[in-house]
Amino acid sequence: MAKIKSIYICKDCGYESPKWTGKCPSCESWNSFSEDAIEKKPNKITAHAREVIPLKLTNAKEQRIPLKMDEINRVLGGGIMEGSLILLTGEPGIGKSTLTLQICDQLTGGTAKVLYISGEESQNQIASRAVRLKIDSEKISFLAETNLEAIIATVQKEKPDFLVIDSIQVMQSSDMTSFAGSVGQIRYAAEKFMEYAKKNNVPTILIGHVTKEGNLAGPRVLEHLVDTVLYIEGDRYKNFRILRAQKNRFGSTDEIGIFEMAGDGLREVKNPSAEFLEGKRPDAVGSAITITMEGTRPILVEVQALSNVTPFGFPKRTSTGFDVNRAQLLISVLQKYARINLSNQDIFVNVVGGMRLKDPACDLGVLMAIASSFLQKTIPSDVCFIGEVGLSGEVRNVSQMEKRIKEAKKLGFKKIITPKECKTIVDAVKGL
Ligand code: TYD
Ligand code: MG
Repeated sequence: MAKIKSIYICKDCGYESPKWTGKCPSCESWNSFSEDAIEKKPNKITAHAREVIPLKLTNAKEQRIPLKMDEINRVLGGGIMEGSLILLTGEPGIGKSTLTLQICDQLTGGTAKVLYISGEESQNQIASRAVRLKIDSEKISFLAETNLEAIIATVQKEKPDFLVIDSIQVMQSSDMTSFAGSVGQIRYAAEKFMEYAKKNNVPTILIGHVTKEGNLAGPRVLEHLVDTVLYIEGDRYKNFRILRAQKNRFGSTDEIGIFEMAGDGLREVKNPSAEFLEGKRPDAVGSAITITMEGTRPILVEVQALSNVTPFGFPKRTSTGFDVNRAQLLISVLQKYARINLSNQDIFVNVVGGMRLKDPACDLGVLMAIASSFLQKTIPSDVCFIGEVGLSGEVRNVSQMEKRIKEAKKLGFKKIITPKECKTIVDAVKGL
């Protein structure tokens, strides 16, 4: 008989301790331990120990189920891998349930049997979403349930080809005494679904919420357990949604999928550069175009900056879609080498369209947007900037230059400023 034992788990990093502690010895966060009951299995290894025959790797076949939407396929590395466990996360209301239902529909396009288990919404709510998405809900079986044992029993009987759990945070096992949403419950449920998915070769999507800080509400240990962690990002009040793989056992984590939330669900954005640049005013100051590489795709984005005299002694610098520390560094370089005095200026940086720029090649574009706003000079709308800015004011070369230039030319940009044209930021600013 399995024994139930009490332990304490850090909800930030999953560290386990037999006693409660105020500060986690592993990740050093305070007050993050909560009590959980774990099932302790009797040690029967010796009784079960027997020889197993190893298999040849050459006999294994890669089985992927490609979806209709290429934007999802790209992020997954070519489709959903059979028997894989995918964790789909994002803020509440960002579109996780919507995207998952669309994936279900694309799978049922064949003969796949889909079982959608929701512990958050009723059958009517899911059905009305399906109507909005113009999905034939006849093909999708639905179950409103949060009890883990009941779900596993149903799944074993129904034998679906594809399973969805919406969401993992509300699942609760009757084997455990702790409440739903606790670290132990989440991990236990995820382990059970993992076991089922692997044993029966059933691809499974677990939906999970993230907290405001962007952490998974629950243990990070879930991220280690699953095969793929997908994030949906974007501003829920704006239309663009970006799907990103944070971890992927079966593909790259560099690729992104871009969608637009429409009245009938998430729509693929096939030409993101053109859409991100739509609405750019040609005469605006403080606006520059740069090119970021997202995996294998170059994407043109508009960076906006606003520089204004600070009403307080200490200037404020904020940034959306670009690392604020990197922005501070660019401001410093601009001050020192281009001799632009920004010490009494509040500076705000914004990347249009909800993209997050991590590519260093975007440095020059951000820097030029700031300079343009301060100097009140417009950058012509057929100019774009590529280059990393170094600490001594030099503009450095970046990877995949040809691809970036090709994309810019395709969109009609006449002047592409690269490290070849301007060796330092002084050259770049002079061109304004
Ligand atoms: P939802 O998938 O329920 O979010 P999550 O599961 O991540 O909490 O999406 C909720 C939002 O999406 C909601 O604000 C309404 C919007 N939405 C649309 O704009 N169009 C649609 O077709 C659907 C289904 C939702
Ligand atoms: Mg939902």
